[in-house]
Amino acid sequence: MQKAASLPLPPADAQAASDTLAARIGESIDAAGGWIGFDRYMALALYAPGLGYYSGGSAKFGRDARDGSDFITAPELSPFFARTLARQFAPLLAQGLPRLLEFGAGTGRLAADLLLGLEQEGQLPDTYAIVELSGELRARQQDTLARRAPHLVERVTWLDTLPAAFEGVIVGNEVLDAMPVQLYARNGGNWHERGVARAGVQDGGAPAFRFEDRPLAATDVPEALRAIPGDHDLVTETHAEAEGFTRAVGAMLARGAAFFIDYGFPGAEYYHPQRAGGTLMCHYRHHAHPDPFLHPGLQDITAHVNFSGIAHAAAETGLTVAGFASQARFLMNAGITDLLMALDPSDARAFLPQANAVQKLLSEAEMGELFKVIALTRGLDDSEPLAGFARGDRCHAL
Ligand SMILES: C[S@@+](CC[C@H](N)C(=O)[O-])C[C@H]1O[C@@H](n2cnc3c(N)ncnc32)[C@H](O)[C@@H]1O
Repeated sequence: MQKAASLPLPPADAQAASDTLAARIGESIDAAGGWIGFDRYMALALYAPGLGYYSGGSAKFGRDARDGSDFITAPELSPFFARTLARQFAPLLAQGLPRLLEFGAGTGRLAADLLLGLEQEGQLPDTYAIVELSGELRARQQDTLARRAPHLVERVTWLDTLPAAFEGVIVGNEVLDAMPVQLYARNGGNWHERGVARAGVQDGGAPAFRFEDRPLAATDVPEALRAIPGDHDLVTETHAEAEGFTRAVGAMLARGAAFFIDYGFPGAEYYHPQRAGGTLMCHYRHHAHPDPFLHPGLQDITAHVNFSGIAHAAAETGLTVAGFASQARFLMNAGITDLLMALDPSDARAFLPQANAVQKLLSEAEMGELFKVIALTRGLDDSEPLAGFARGDRCHAL
């Protein structure tokens, strides 16, 4: 992990936008009496209209820092990610559910490659709806779809609000980790909510910020945290927004399946006493570092997903947790290696880059084990279990 001081400096226009956002965050802190919860800070840093990381103009997704990007996601890494999802989704669409809905579609790469994959599977959905909070990303998605799948663009629509009811397949890759989290610190055996206060000004004159811990009454300490054994100091997160989002998905999904893919753990692992530093992480120009106050609006801020919280929120709305597996297990069960083997290995120039990318998706040391897939379903034909969870399902751990 990198020290923030050694990271590349942003260009002047980006720095100016960040300073404007910092001023806005400072005003929010003042209006709240000098302190805001970390979830509020994270919501502003990522989603403040026009200035937040996801709502502003940062490049965000890409292969390396030379293109101004900050991180790479599975759909950007390899088309075989989407092609494998298409194999899992095709039999579901065939159950009279010919609609797809994607949350937080990034560059549009997953949408384009999923549509192309489903076309190959002979199971194109009638519609592919995208729910995207960022106008800038929506434009990028339109551009990607027009380039990669021009004949399928007409099936794609963008939604500003969730439909009251949806029947079909829902997918969200790395969406839950981008939702604001609350931070909590146990200091000297006592729980505090860790929020954000002003800390003077930065060199350029924009407000600077620091963490400030406020003591919590025992009754206000979230149940999952009270159960963490020991009295050593630790910092961790809770995920009210991601769980509320899951309940909204549950209220909307009348029949079908929702798949969320993200890095995270079951609750017992998430709140393990040895995970004393929490999982909050920032990404700037392909450097991972722990300082959420660096360049507000110009870097990603993220926390791992507590999949037990997601599973419980889903169950509250009557959804079935139909599968939970590592990304490697899920992709292998759903046939990623068959797809790769269909390439000609003697054509090294074509085969090797694809094989390397698939290796990253599957390797335990990279994305294979840390990333998980959870499937939440309602009203599906039980006689056709989801292929992605045929071996290595870990629902029991949630
Ligand atoms: C890390 S990016 C992942 C983008 C893309 N899915 C990919 O894999 O490349 C997180 C995305 O989630 C979106 N997002 C966060 N909360 C959301 C919500 N409540 N509804 C829809 N999208 C959301 C963000 O706007 C952003 O596009």
